[in-house]
Amino acid sequence: MTSKPRILVTRTLMEANENRLRAEFDATLNPDDHIMSADEIVAASHGMDALLICVTEPLIATTIERLPDTVKAIMTLSVGMEHIDLDAAKSRGIAVLSTPDAVNDPTVEVAMLLMLGAARRATEGAALMRKHAWTEWTPRLLLGTDVTNGTLGIFGMGRIGRTLAQRARGFDMTIRYHNRTRLSFEEEAGASYYTSIESLLPASPFLAITAPSTPETRGFLNAERIALLPDGAIVVNIARGELVDDDALIDALKSGKVAAAGLDVFNGEPTNVNPAYLELPNVFITPHIGSAARNARAAMGDMLMDGLNLLLAGEPVPNRVV
Ligand code: DGY
Repeated sequence: MTSKPRILVTRTLMEANENRLRAEFDATLNPDDHIMSADEIVAASHGMDALLICVTEPLIATTIERLPDTVKAIMTLSVGMEHIDLDAAKSRGIAVLSTPDAVNDPTVEVAMLLMLGAARRATEGAALMRKHAWTEWTPRLLLGTDVTNGTLGIFGMGRIGRTLAQRARGFDMTIRYHNRTRLSFEEEAGASYYTSIESLLPASPFLAITAPSTPETRGFLNAERIALLPDGAIVVNIARGELVDDDALIDALKSGKVAAAGLDVFNGEPTNVNPAYLELPNVFITPHIGSAARNARAAMGDMLMDGLNLLLAGEPVPNRVV
């Protein structure tokens, strides 16, 4: 009998995923869910065929260089890849697997939640009620921005951006986008392509950030670019905090240049989020829960295990990044 593939799992996963890991693989789990240091991961990797990590475990080049030769795959329970040095993995011949597609629908649900919550002043509404301060209905109470028939600019038209466009069309929104490459006519589905972010911003009363975190995108929403947005724009970020210059966005939220923001991801998350975001009434916030829906989370784990099985069988792996 051939032995089962050995996997080091760095976080506590959903029960269904852990049951499958125990049944199909020789899995070392992390039942207390502590964050493993790089040294701990390297030490625990001895004899492992694969690592199953999350965005909470940065695998920088020097860590990847120290992994034992037995490790054939790094699997990340995310579509974001910024925590893994892909070049280092490639040069060691270690495959990297991620969870594309599985995250589209839940992440876009949160994008819509954030857009609606920001536009319709959900933070202020909830605060009013929770403080027992709502005393009367008035025609001018908490007037927000109409989402229906609005215009949404999407920065990053990958799988998540395209799914967002599809859902936003349900609100009869006009879709505009910027992406490194223009989509095909079918993929555009009526969305207008803007060749630069500078041309998209003035045309985006709603702006959704759905681009990956790369050296090119980090800090892209800075003071100069915010100045290009229409006055009273609504900004939604479900990508990564690093794409936004916090001081610039906070200034714009205070001045009203940006009427409201819906944010699921933050610089310094989870413990060093800029405190101004927590105080501003025109910010609707969630704690990086884009893909945190039960079926989707289980599907992410399954996608990684399916991919590992294919890799070890020498088959092509659809969710292989390098
Ligand atoms: C992703 O898939 O990248 C989510 O942000 C979860 O890490």
